[in-house]
Formats: sequence, structure tokens, C-alpha cells
Amino acid sequence: MEGIDIPPDWQRVASWILVHRLRTILVLGASDRGKSTFCAYLSFRALHVGVKPALIDADVGQKDLGPPATITLGYPQLDQALAALKPAAMYFVGAVTPIAHLLPMIVGTRQLLDQTTSPLVIVNTSGLISGVGEILKAYKIDAVRPDAIVALAHGQELAPILAAHRHFRIFHLTPSFKAQEKSMELRRQRRLAAFRRYFSEAQEYSLPLDDLIFQRLPVDSDEPRSRLLAPGRLCALADEQQTVLGLALVRDCDPKRGILRVHSPVAAMKVRVVQLGEVILDPADL
Ligand SMILES: Nc1ncnc2c1ncn2[C@@H]1O[C@H](COP(=O)(O)OP(=O)(O)O)[C@@H](O)[C@H]1O
Ligand SMILES: [Mg+2]
Repeated sequence: MEGIDIPPDWQRVASWILVHRLRTILVLGASDRGKSTFCAYLSFRALHVGVKPALIDADVGQKDLGPPATITLGYPQLDQALAALKPAAMYFVGAVTPIAHLLPMIVGTRQLLDQTTSPLVIVNTSGLISGVGEILKAYKIDAVRPDAIVALAHGQELAPILAAHRHFRIFHLTPSFKAQEKSMELRRQRRLAAFRRYFSEAQEYSLPLDDLIFQRLPVDSDEPRSRLLAPGRLCALADEQQTVLGLALVRDCDPKRGILRVHSPVAAMKVRVVQLGEVILDPADL
């Protein structure tokens, strides 16, 4: 944890969580308050006392683990950066903001939580805390039922969410003086870099259109499927059990030949379901 400032109250909270063996920790805060840094610190402290933590990364826009537009489950290690870790499971949100995607945010977080038996599960969240973010966080708390909420906030910025959940155990932490805000442009660049990393070992292949099941098609849209499957559209590929295998970019949809060409690091063999996302990536950016 070199270069990281660990305020005394962060130390005390991490110790309390470990000594009392709290299991599910939900980390809340606006963007750049240090949520990811705290999650990394708590993982580090847990690993040092022999507790193997699970991390659920639900910050779809600024991921620590796995590609943007997904919620991921992974197991932090002492000798590996989170960005280099392969997620153990993934749920597709399809967008890099929770706005207008509240349902997959909740369903995905809950599903991944149900998939782990770790004695400590750290759930990191997006920085959306006002407006619809207040609704999202309320339902997320209800879906996760955390043993503790870690609230990283300046002043009263989390007060409306916390007031409605003050019967939960809440640890109020102040952001480190080292916490730095990222510009929108830097956020965009980081997302692109994360997608680039994810697709760096992707290959192009064809899938038979007739065998595929399409999900998350826009409601009430008259657009033909071939138009929805525009080049660059981000999709998730899932198997027969609806388990997400990974992401793909549409290259080309050719209804006449009955094929969908995709660019993906996922092996074609088990793909049965294609979930459409909202994101369109310019291949030139990758
Ligand atoms: N305790 C800390 N020590 C050093 N740097 C920090 C600390 N907290 C936050 N930062 C820095 O501030 C920025 C935002 O922190 P981050 O943990 O990514 O916030 P969030 O996950 O809430 O968006 C990052 O560059 C991070 O390295
Ligand atoms: Mg973060």
C-alpha cells in the first residue's frame, strides 16, 4: 500500500470489521472520495490476517476489477493488482452509468453476492449518490443487507441516504487529504483504456444468428435487429444457464447469411445468449 495515506479512523474501522468478523461491507461515497482505495486497504488488511476477501465491484464507470459496464466478483491477492485480476464472475449492466439501468445494478450485485462464500465480502459502488442515485443506494442497501456501511463523505453529502438507514451499522469516514478528483475527460480515457485492455486478446468470429437468443432489446423499438446490432455495440455473451462468459463487440450482422460477427476474448463454443448493451465503441479507439 505504498503512497497510500491511511487515516487513523480507516485503520480503526478495518480492525473493527476484522475483529468482529463482519461479513458484508457496503462502501458508499461520491466519486473520488476514496471508495476504491478503502476497498483495497480493507482487502489488504484482511489478507494479512488470513481472511480471503471477495470484492464485488459495482462501479460500472470507473472499474477496479474487470471491464466497464459490468459488475464483477473477484478475489483480491496480495501479489496482484486488481486491474490484472481476472473476475471470477461478471454481470452485464451494458452502460457506464447506473442512470436508467437501476434494475441490472441491483440484480447483478445481489446475484454475485449469492455466488460467493467468502467470510468477508466488500461491495464497492458507483459514485452516483443524489437524484436517482439515492433510490439506487436505498434499494442496494436493501438487496445487500450489509453488516456495515462504510460511508466516505465530505459534510452532509450522504445524509439523505444514511438517514433512511441509520438502524444499520454505519462507519462514517472522512476522505483522505490525498483523495483527488478526476476530470470527466480523464474518466473517459480510463474507461477506454480499460476496454482496450479487456479486448486486447479478442478474436473475431461468427455466430449463427438462428441459434442465438437475444436479450435486452429496447422495449417498443421497431428497429430491425440488424440495425440494433450495429458495428461497435457492446454486448455480453452468456451460456445456456445465462451465466455471462464475457463481453463482445459487434462487427457485423448479416441476416442474409444468418451470421453475427463479433470481436471477443470469449470462446465461441458455449455462447447461446447475447445481451445488448447501450455502449457503442469506435473500433479506432481500441
Ligand atoms: N487514502 C488515500 N491515499 C492516497 N491516495 C488516495 C487516497 N484516497 C484516495 N486517493 C486518490 O484519490 C483518487 C480517488 O480515489 P479513489 O479511491 O479512486 O476514489 P473512488 O473509488 O471513491 O472514486 C485516486 O487517484 C486515489 O489514488
Ligand atoms: Mg472507485
